[in-house]
Amino acid sequence: MANKDVTDPVRMEKIVSLCKRRGFIFQAGELYGGLNGCWDYGPLGAELKRNLKDYWWRKTVQERDDVLGMDGAILTMEAVLQSSGHIGGFSDPMVDCKTCKGRFRADNLDTYECKEKPSVCPGASPKCELTEPREFNLMLQTNFGATGEQIAYLRPETAQSIFCQYKNILDSNRVKLPFGIAQIGKSFRNEINPRNYIFRSREFEQMEIEYFCRPEDGMRLTDEWLETRLCFYEEIGIPRAKLHILDVPDGDRAFYSKKTYDIEYEFPFGIQELEGVAYRTDYDLGVHAKGSGRPLEYFDEETKERFLPHVVEPSAGCDRTVLALICEAFDEEELGTDGNSDMRTVMRFMPSMAPIKVAIFPLLKKNEEQVRICREIQKSLQPWMNVFYDDSGAVGRRYRRQDEIGTPFCVTVDFETLGEETPDLKGTVTLRHRDSMEQERLPVVDLLPWLLARVR
Ligand code: GAP
Repeated sequence: MANKDVTDPVRMEKIVSLCKRRGFIFQAGELYGGLNGCWDYGPLGAELKRNLKDYWWRKTVQERDDVLGMDGAILTMEAVLQSSGHIGGFSDPMVDCKTCKGRFRADNLDTYECKEKPSVCPGASPKCELTEPREFNLMLQTNFGATGEQIAYLRPETAQSIFCQYKNILDSNRVKLPFGIAQIGKSFRNEINPRNYIFRSREFEQMEIEYFCRPEDGMRLTDEWLETRLCFYEEIGIPRAKLHILDVPDGDRAFYSKKTYDIEYEFPFGIQELEGVAYRTDYDLGVHAKGSGRPLEYFDEETKERFLPHVVEPSAGCDRTVLALICEAFDEEELGTDGNSDMRTVMRFMPSMAPIKVAIFPLLKKNEEQVRICREIQKSLQPWMNVFYDDSGAVGRRYRRQDEIGTPFCVTVDFETLGEETPDLKGTVTLRHRDSMEQERLPVVDLLPWLLARVR
């Protein structure tokens, strides 16, 4: 983690409160007191997350010739996780504090605060009495069959189904090295301390690519994927300046990894990992070939060589990226002068990520013709994007409500649209930009192409 203090708890509190108030994110099971480490996405959060996943899929699978998609089962066989090493080794060291009854990860104790004496770290207070660290397996287990005799696990990463289906995908799609398999899906970890809002949860989504290659290309492709992924973050509105690259040193990497970069972001609670880009060598295919007893080698038609491909893995957290998008977008802007100060809250999402792309307002809700045109515009845009119709309150207030959820454009149908006194403006609407608050007039017939060019 880079040595720079970027923490801003007040900003974080405002973000969490806005997310609840406007329906981005709620705690799972809140009605019954809440389920720790699990989150529900409300209407706006679900749209934001879907935009992110769609864009990732488009850039990673749809627009590339060398990456195929898959969608694997969440429930995972014990044998798979035995071979991958998760059953024996996927654990964090845990300690308990006998005084405050808190439970902490022993490997980053200095980031916790003791509940007994909040200003100090566990173990630092004279009152703290920590147990010896013990290993705590992070996997969530479930049972199958009428008597529950068969054990299965909720997958701790999406990667393992990719490794297990690599041969089927290779054979059924006749692909050649290098090629990747991409997957977006839920993963589950029984985290000792879920925290920092949705940053570390027990149920989360990953966006993973396993990129299979010749051994001699592994290092180069790791660097290339790092660059590709950094560009991706810029494209969705997370500037390079807020990203930090940690070249994970020997000893801190998984034993099979020859190189790992962590891509970190300046969250208001600190600089923390968004994604890992790891060169995993032939470790995964090797353990599954051994565990299953099935050959997983690749046969190179040209060189007539048979070998286990190596793997480069860019593995991103979907929820963490949603959180980074929200943190990056959140802004409070001071408007007005001479003591008439007025604070505008704006979510400056890029139009491609914004949950709602355009809001449509009749200037006067009692004007039937304005309402009719609004509804017509709404219907014509809805097959292409999320549109929000609002006719309550003053237009200024409607703008503010949209600013707060990051809608990039608002369209108002007014008297000029009807053209009774301004025939030259008939059939045009007022289009207002969220960030600059500037307004322009646009013919209704141009709205769809104008918006499509900007919101996808
Ligand atoms: N297949 C490799 C793998 O799973 P990881 O570093 O454990 O590697 C990859 O996880 C990404 O998944 C992380 O960079 C993070 O974005 C996300 N992630 C991991 N654990 C998470 C958790 N408890 N809550 C939210 N996201 C998590």
